[in-house]
Amino acid sequence: MMRTILIPSFPDMYVCVCNAVTDREIRGAVALGARTLADLRQSLGVGTCCGRCEECARNLVGESTPATAACRRGDD
Ligand code: FES
Repeated sequence: MMRTILIPSFPDMYVCVCNAVTDREIRGAVALGARTLADLRQSLGVGTCCGRCEECARNLVGESTPATAACRRGDD
């Protein structure tokens, strides 16, 4: 008998409200080579208004860079 496993999906979270940029878009930018907040500013406009999103955006870049993700998985 085949069982169906439901995996919850979470909605995107707005990181930069001023520019309507989500965590998914930031992770996508990192996958395409963004490595700094300046990169995100240039590609997505993150942090170009009030700046309240900067710390969260930096953290997302840190979590999402391939080397960091590999360390978390235990890859060398
Ligand atoms: S929330 Fe990103 S610039 Fe205001």
